Amino acid sequence: MKTIRFHEIGGPEVLRYEDVERPRMAPNKVLVRIHAIGVNFADTLLRRGAYLAQPKLPETPGFEAAGVVVEAGDETDRNLVGQRVVVLGERCYAEYVTASQSQLIGLPDKISFEEAAAFPVQALTAYHMLYTADRVSPGRTVLVHAAAGGVGLLAVQMAKLGGARVIGTTSSAEKAKIVEEAGADDVILYNQTDFAPKVAQLTNQRGVDIVLDSVGKATLHGSLASLAPFGHLISYGGASGRPDPIDVGTLYSRSLKVSAFWLFTVSRTPAIAQRGVRQVLEWISSGKIHLRIGLKLPLEQAAEAHRRMEARQTTGKILLMVE
Ligand SMILES: NC(=O)c1ccc[n+]([C@@H]2O[C@H](COP(=O)([O-])OP(=O)(O)OC[C@H]3O[C@@H](n4cnc5c(N)ncnc54)[C@H](OP(=O)(O)O)[C@@H]3O)[C@@H](O)[C@H]2O)c1
Repeated sequence: MKTIRFHEIGGPEVLRYEDVERPRMAPNKVLVRIHAIGVNFADTLLRRGAYLAQPKLPETPGFEAAGVVVEAGDETDRNLVGQRVVVLGERCYAEYVTASQSQLIGLPDKISFEEAAAFPVQALTAYHMLYTADRVSPGRTVLVHAAAGGVGLLAVQMAKLGGARVIGTTSSAEKAKIVEEAGADDVILYNQTDFAPKVAQLTNQRGVDIVLDSVGKATLHGSLASLAPFGHLISYGGASGRPDPIDVGTLYSRSLKVSAFWLFTVSRTPAIAQRGVRQVLEWISSGKIHLRIGLKLPLEQAAEAHRRMEARQTTGKILLMVE
């Protein structure tokens, strides 16, 4: 089968389109024929050796892909064969992927393979930050950094669904328009304007209740400065570099909270994970959440997808397609 592998840590050029054996089945696994693969910023970090988990070379990136179950191991439910699913797993830049049953999300007929590959990592991350790690509600204000990105656009929509006021940040006027269309009340171009004083101005000097910060090093101090009393900074990434350490003493005067979020923690608590999947699928099926596919490329062009993502040229979701 065709797959994407990298044999060394490096830039997008290390991604190779290769022929390999299909992954080996095990009694507790199913084999899924893939049609659409979701690209995430984490895939670029894995390739650069900068992700939380280190790659085992040669490695295949990819945490999510949608397709049809074509084989089911003896210890799994044999009725899964023929079902449309999305896998939230690993090594998904490939024509076939093996997964355990707990890594599968069954797809309602209404949801296409493209929509399916576009939601698991990004939508569930946005959901669990806003509805598990904290709780948005009317009267609260949320600051969403990199708001035109995959997680960002979904977080804007989900915070609005919860009744919150949303301020987004992004790097260009073109992206700002997309963030506004997703429902943000205000958008700040954070590479042109010092965003913390602008947030203070937009909130009558009060600040925001929640900051979703995936940018890290470049935004951390401004994010803390943007918080209202009892505000909560959720750090969930470092697109600009790992955030600096925080001196807890600086949090006292406004009784601030700082927390970290990693989606894979959610899978350790199945009841919470299932609540997230149910809610997100319901929002997508009913049209309350729009999945913006910003770029679709064939699997063999994975390197180009990474290049554009790291150059900040993408909006919404990037997909890799398999014939
Ligand atoms: N903790 C978790 O479980 C979890 C899960 C999913 C994603 N994440 C993190 O959330 C972030 C968003 O992920 P995503 O897949 O949705 O990607 P994305 O937001 O579509 O792409 C990354 C965005 O980050 C912004 N950015 C700021 N500084 C950057 C820099 N120096 N280099 C590159 N980009 C920069 C860019 O937006 P602007 O041009 O608007 O600045 C860029 O478009 C990533 O940091 C990712 O690692 C974490």
